[in-house]
Amino acid sequence: MAEEQKIYRGLDGVVVDTTAVSKVMPETNSLTYRGYAVQDLAAHCTFEEVAYLIYNGELPNKKELAAFRRAERARREIGADLLAVIKRYPKRAHPMDTIRTSVSFLGLREVAWGGETLEADKRRALDLLAKIPTMIATDYRVRKGLRRIAPRSDLSFSENFFHMCFGKVPPKEVVRAFDISLILYAEHSFNASTFTTRVVASTRSDIYGATTAGIASLKGPLHGGANEAVMHMLREIGTAKKARAWMEQALRNKRLVMGFGHRVYKTGDSRVPTMRKCLEDLSRWAGENRWLAIEDELQDYMLSEKNIHPNLDFPSGPAYYLMGFEIDLYTPIFVMARTTGWSAHYFEQNADNRLIRPLSAYGGVAQRPVVALASR
Ligand code: COA
Repeated sequence: MAEEQKIYRGLDGVVVDTTAVSKVMPETNSLTYRGYAVQDLAAHCTFEEVAYLIYNGELPNKKELAAFRRAERARREIGADLLAVIKRYPKRAHPMDTIRTSVSFLGLREVAWGGETLEADKRRALDLLAKIPTMIATDYRVRKGLRRIAPRSDLSFSENFFHMCFGKVPPKEVVRAFDISLILYAEHSFNASTFTTRVVASTRSDIYGATTAGIASLKGPLHGGANEAVMHMLREIGTAKKARAWMEQALRNKRLVMGFGHRVYKTGDSRVPTMRKCLEDLSRWAGENRWLAIEDELQDYMLSEKNIHPNLDFPSGPAYYLMGFEIDLYTPIFVMARTTGWSAHYFEQNADNRLIRPLSAYGGVAQRPVVALASR
């Protein structure tokens, strides 16, 4: 009977499966990937090492890392067929929609099904990792009427993305801040987009479809889209002097303030201190303290009034702004990182699959007879 069932709206608090990929510990505001604290990974590793870890369960040794890097770098070109498609995208399309379509296109090149062999899926995951940045940067340049810049195989994952977007690589502290942001965005247990990819995987569908669905889920402003929304908000506020009044009014109007709150973390997001430090370094490097100053005001007010803490999107939005990226590229950059987590969960779901099919309580009209059209 529907009225007697306990309903978990938003699957709030529901544990649906086990995972060995990452562990979120809200009680200590901490997060581990494969057993390593995310801030330690950010301090000691490159994004490529973390990607290897997420896919394979262990950090690579030098030889394994060299082979992984070679394989990723060799796969960066997207091919003339996809380039032709990207050139035909409507110029006003959001880059999250274009990257979703480009990833879907990649799946047209082969007839794939889920979980045939882990080896085949790992090859596809590596292809996604290598090609997604090229798809994003190519679309960005084409949309702006600029000449496409081909990927370079002598550059790191992060350096190459800057190169493909802007034709140059910024100083190493900027590249490092970007690399750290990718590490922090790479994986986060059963968040909405990862759960989406696992639902698709559980039907034994393919990794391209699962990733496409993950991208669609990540686009929403309650999830990945928040990093873009944060920057729009900071620009709307304009100066630190106006921040407090803006926040007062937003809370009075029951407005959701982007970059604050989290379904799991209630006393602070494990990833924020590391990204905040990157934002401080970037602000110093750029000689621009405005965004940090606005954020400090917003954060103080939100904490004192509602005790709601900032999430990762709060410092990453202005960090990407200071790096020179256009705002609508922030969530696609999140895709570049999160494709690693999605793929690892795809492998895990396939390795021990059970179709994900929850129940619902019916809340519509009671059963009734159909009256023939002539009598209606
Ligand atoms: N701004 C203002 N109020 C917020 C808020 C925010 N960002 N986040 C939560 N709240 C409020 C809720 O409205 C709710 O108020 P109520 O009790 O008066 O109804 C209260 O805080 C508790 O919210 P909670 O149920 O714990 O949040 P949730 O788990 O449903 O939502 C998010 C989590 C992420 C969806 C939500 O915090 C949000 O929309 N944040 C903004 C978007 C964002 O930054 N997303 C990125 C997440 S990593």
